[in-house]
Amino acid sequence: LFTAIEMAPRDPILGITEAFNADKNPAKINLGVGVYYDNNGKVPLLDCVKKAEAILMEKGAPRTYLPIDGLAAYDKAVQELVFGAGSAVINEKRAITAQAIGGTGALKLGADFLQRFAPGAQVWISDPSWENHRALFESAGFTVNNYPYYDPSTRGVNFSGMLGALQTMPSGSIVLLHACCHNPTGADLSAAQWLEVIQVVTERGLVPFLDMAYQGFGDGIEADGKVVRQFADAGGPLFVSNSFSKSFSLYGERVGALSIVAVSAEEAARLLSQLKRVIRTNYSNPPMHGGQVVAMALATPELRQLWEDELAGMRVRIREMRQLLVAKLKEKAPAHDFDFVIQQRGMFSYSGLTKEQVSRLASEYSIYAVDTGRICVAALNSTNIDKVVEAISKVL
Ligand code: LMR
Repeated sequence: LFTAIEMAPRDPILGITEAFNADKNPAKINLGVGVYYDNNGKVPLLDCVKKAEAILMEKGAPRTYLPIDGLAAYDKAVQELVFGAGSAVINEKRAITAQAIGGTGALKLGADFLQRFAPGAQVWISDPSWENHRALFESAGFTVNNYPYYDPSTRGVNFSGMLGALQTMPSGSIVLLHACCHNPTGADLSAAQWLEVIQVVTERGLVPFLDMAYQGFGDGIEADGKVVRQFADAGGPLFVSNSFSKSFSLYGERVGALSIVAVSAEEAARLLSQLKRVIRTNYSNPPMHGGQVVAMALATPELRQLWEDELAGMRVRIREMRQLLVAKLKEKAPAHDFDFVIQQRGMFSYSGLTKEQVSRLASEYSIYAVDTGRICVAALNSTNIDKVVEAISKVL
């Protein structure tokens, strides 16, 4: 049975962590995976999480099954965060939200759901996109295409190329868009460009699927989520996957959600019933802990404020690292212009390093990045940045 099975390739992102873990050099640095580290190089356990956990421990709730679509208080809190409390889609009961196993799990639920009800549609993702987007939708049975997105010559978005592609996609095509902090490039659309995208997507009857894994890491919670609300106001259908892995530093708890906007409350009820079947035949119902923590933190004013402050702290530190990286590279590699790093948003920088340069960073300096040249700026700190700058200047 197993003799013909070939070795699968290493995962382009999590495979780097495997290589990093195997490296014996104590001074190794992992700029591969999208994880935020504090200035001491530690993944933080947020105070808002600790406080929520203390309350939950005190309560000592039994570990019964959650509903198929997750903890009701969590789904409600997510909906209000994503669409805005009092928004039309919530008031009119046109939005459904199901707790998911992280942002990846939310994408998978959406992909499986769409495969059941729109099996002939094709999926379009940005060129480039998060490595797992293509694999996820292909494994759900879709043909996945790229629309133009990144322009290496300007280090920004090839907006006319993107718009042109949207204008020629068949109606019903599923368009995966990064709501903020584009992964891997860090190049986001401007507010005016988003409005044009929303107009074309709506007019042409495309199905927008917004992936929002980094809300709060760009310009703030409200600003980063704005495009989701604008899409929701445009009517629907709309799919939104969101994640609290990064914003709550709850990576291992796998806390995310899938929301779908329907045209009516009656349609939304039908969609939820079908989404529950997708979940039930996949993993039955989600785990409790992470969802309880996030629900409590989002719904308790004191904890909510604490979370917003802690998230702002992470956002500001990443910005500082961008500034510092650029300033230090100016000194060490003056022939190269890295100013674009400051404009990029979120955890990542599409650094422009080639695959060969990335490979040398790993083999000669034990500094790990994604083959495409994506580096996680959120893993830089005041202790390791000089080593990174020195190594980059050597491989350039
Ligand atoms: C990343 O892009 O590094 C993160 O989203 C982690 C992952 O699962 O790939």
